[in-house]
Amino acid sequence: MNEVIGYEVSDGIAILGINNPPVNAVGASVRQGLSNALHRALGDDAVQAILILGEGRTFPAGSDIREFGKPPADPWLPGLCNAVEASPKIVVAALHGTALGGGFELALATHYRVAAEGARIGFPEVTLGILPGAGGTQRAPRLAGAGDALDLMLSGRAISVTSAEAAPYIDKVVQGDLRQQALSYVQELLAQGAGTRPTRDIRKGFADPIAYQKAVALRKEVVAKRPEIAPQEIVKCVEAAELLPFDMGLTVERAAFDDCVQSDQAASLRHVFFAERRAPKFPEISGQGASPVSQVGIVGGGVAGRGLALACLEVDLEVVLIERNSAALRESLGKINAYLDRLVAQGRLRGQARDDRGMRLHGKTDFVALSEADVVIEAVADDLKEKQQVFFQLDAVVREGAVLVSTTMRHDLHQIAGKTGDPGWVLGLDIGTPAHLQQVAEVMVPEGVEPAAVAALVALLRRLGKLPVRAEGRRAHIGRAVLGAYRHAADMLVEDGSTPYLVDEAMRAFGMKFGPFEQIDREGLREDRTLRRALADNGTLQGRQVSILDRLCEAGRFGRSVGQGYYLYDGQSPSGRADPEVIALIREERESRGIAARGFSEEEIQRHCLAAMVNEGARLLRLGVARCPSDIDVVMVHGYGFPRWRGGPMKAADLVGLWAVQRDIEQFAQQDSVFWSPEPVFDTLFKAGQGFDALNG
Ligand code: CAA
Repeated sequence: MNEVIGYEVSDGIAILGINNPPVNAVGASVRQGLSNALHRALGDDAVQAILILGEGRTFPAGSDIREFGKPPADPWLPGLCNAVEASPKIVVAALHGTALGGGFELALATHYRVAAEGARIGFPEVTLGILPGAGGTQRAPRLAGAGDALDLMLSGRAISVTSAEAAPYIDKVVQGDLRQQALSYVQELLAQGAGTRPTRDIRKGFADPIAYQKAVALRKEVVAKRPEIAPQEIVKCVEAAELLPFDMGLTVERAAFDDCVQSDQAASLRHVFFAERRAPKFPEISGQGASPVSQVGIVGGGVAGRGLALACLEVDLEVVLIERNSAALRESLGKINAYLDRLVAQGRLRGQARDDRGMRLHGKTDFVALSEADVVIEAVADDLKEKQQVFFQLDAVVREGAVLVSTTMRHDLHQIAGKTGDPGWVLGLDIGTPAHLQQVAEVMVPEGVEPAAVAALVALLRRLGKLPVRAEGRRAHIGRAVLGAYRHAADMLVEDGSTPYLVDEAMRAFGMKFGPFEQIDREGLREDRTLRRALADNGTLQGRQVSILDRLCEAGRFGRSVGQGYYLYDGQSPSGRADPEVIALIREERESRGIAARGFSEEEIQRHCLAAMVNEGARLLRLGVARCPSDIDVVMVHGYGFPRWRGGPMKAADLVGLWAVQRDIEQFAQQDSVFWSPEPVFDTLFKAGQGFDALNG
């Protein structure tokens, strides 16, 4: 018997306990072990029924994702599920924790399901670019109908077993000791003479064929607009579930699964899954617990400070917000309170929770109020003198071991930290605005910082629900540097003959959430100009100058907030339309530089933009700012709208081939050999037959 599967017989019930920490993923050894244990139980006359459960924290949370993309090892999960379903002795699954993906599919193949009250079930496969490939697309709709089953599979959500949505899949929800409760349940079933109940034979979900087909048609229309392959395949499989006999449906599912699992999209999404788990593992944290944070100080009540305050209030922290005077404080607190009230009005926050947040927010104008804070985040204007003054004042009041954090985008952290008596407790943070809505946070770790300070800030960010990514250095930003390079490439394309509108269209077609110019319009052209200047100052953006943005600023076209930027916004087109004035301004600028306009295809635009991002990412790796390519990828996916299904720019480069990207950069260098200078790592990796993934270690 395989050691990952425990086998025990209790009162005629064989208990198969899956023991593969941390999440009992159904890898080859689990499948083999379960298969052996099933045969043993079936051959044992003393066994009347079989109970499958997960040891430790969960019923299996899915197949082992690390096995995808490799040759499959026998026995396969679909075959194992079929064998479980075909068992002549009743098989019951006892669910707790997160019974997801292949784990949930295994449960659906058993004859009855009992679940602990806190358990969650779901099909997260779509988030990995695949579909439930062990009969899930055929069994779930038999139990729940097409609409509900599809909603679960297409969203990838995990739902509570006590929810109405989960009811068709779960026979009994229990409290207390799951093992004991599940054994009693099996005994009850045996006492009632309950027989096996193969899900393949259940037709409850097909009771209303018209409703079934309508539900399929509706989702088919929605997914057809999405660039991802897996959702479309999921809908086809669920459609087949009703139209075809069960075994043929399984064949359709298998073919669709094989197509998806081998796709670039699935490889990219798997890459992001592991990248997200790699990113928060900062070397400073290994083996050391972080001191708990209960009070956060925030200096500055502007957009950035308010967002940080809201994020902290959301997770039960005490917040001390410092403003320079009572009027500014009143205004800032007023805006925070108004935001909370809006949440209540929209039904997104209960009155009691809103009051509770209000009680935990303490507005002050005196730095002394920060004496108890565990972490203080400075969010004042990005002016060196002002920031230095804040840190000088903080040094006088904060307790020993308090972590001080600057949000500077432009300045050297050492110059700011130098104003305190112990610079080892000063870190940088780039969380974007508004902070409470952001998913990713870059932690700037200068040399010589106390590991405990890093651990405390990372723990705080995890609690805030942010994905922390490490950027090493004093003026180090990953996302903004890559974004700057991307926008610079877009600028050059426009100056050389394209238009902002064509570039935006091409990048949306690539999968970016917004095109670069519409994004600048949203953020504001002045803000973008500040970013570009900061990047030019710290040596990130070098080479050819493009002044179109400056010209637009001179013309008062500051972006969406003023009704005009790269686009024109008015009652007729509130989301913006192309503006001939902008085209004329670009033409003038081009002519003044003696540039002969030429056209760029959608693919050329995409190649320029991707190459710029990747080359900048490679530069950040060379400088040691980014620890590994996958950190760059998660920052771009979570913070800058890069399509998750492309895996981030570095993964996208691996899939295109580094040689192709390098060749593009060399070709673009004919226009500007400074900006378009290929990083040496392309050559190194290419000659070793590797991609960026080799650096993810
Ligand atoms: N396969 C392999 N490793 C997995 C895994 C899986 N399915 N799920 C989690 N892990 C690993 C993580 O990589 C992580 O490893 P490290 O500690 O080395 O970083 C570890 O388990 C713990 O995971 P988390 O940090 O994510 O733990 P958590 O408590 O925050 O979340 C979870 C637990 C909700 C189960 C989450 O891990 C998760 O969502 N896992 C993926 C679930 C999933 O997608 N299942 C479907 C797989 S595809 C499938 O099943 C299809 C099929 O058979 C046909």
